Amino acid sequence: MKKDELKIVTVLEDEELLREKSSKLTVEQIESEEVSQLIHAMKDYLSDEKNGGVGLAAIQVGRPLAIFAFKNFEADRKNPPVQIAINPQLSPIGDVMETDKEACLSIPGQEGQVCRYARIRMRYVDESGQKVNENFEGFTARIIQHEFDHLNGVLFTDKVEDDL
Ligand code: NI
Repeated sequence: MKKDELKIVTVLEDEELLREKSSKLTVEQIESEEVSQLIHAMKDYLSDEKNGGVGLAAIQVGRPLAIFAFKNFEADRKNPPVQIAINPQLSPIGDVMETDKEACLSIPGQEGQVCRYARIRMRYVDESGQKVNENFEGFTARIIQHEFDHLNGVLFTDKVEDDL
């Protein structure tokens, strides 16, 4: 699969798909050529500035698998590397919440204020198949929580706070 073949599914086209729960991957799936190509294409897509976006879940390109790509602004604020999380599990660190603006490649033209944990821990498998335990905060933690929601069929518009 070349990156040209990646097509973002929007709520206008197929909200039913975006509401599906993504499946955890087996070791065999993680090591498969198909998943490796999918990950490569997702990284390419997100790395291409003209596509916009700071995170992308596999379900947004039509694959209900527990994988997402995210830009890690903690690693490099100006040129954030695109990182992959497979079978992620999130837990908040502390109970501080922050409200900030969000948007989504699958919901064109909309944005809204969403409340998220300020700091989280993510346990996940990286693209080389290694188990990783990593802490994130601020904008990167927000991106991760948004992408994690996609794996459960949850969209940011479900969580948008009423205008104050
Ligand atoms: Ni999104």
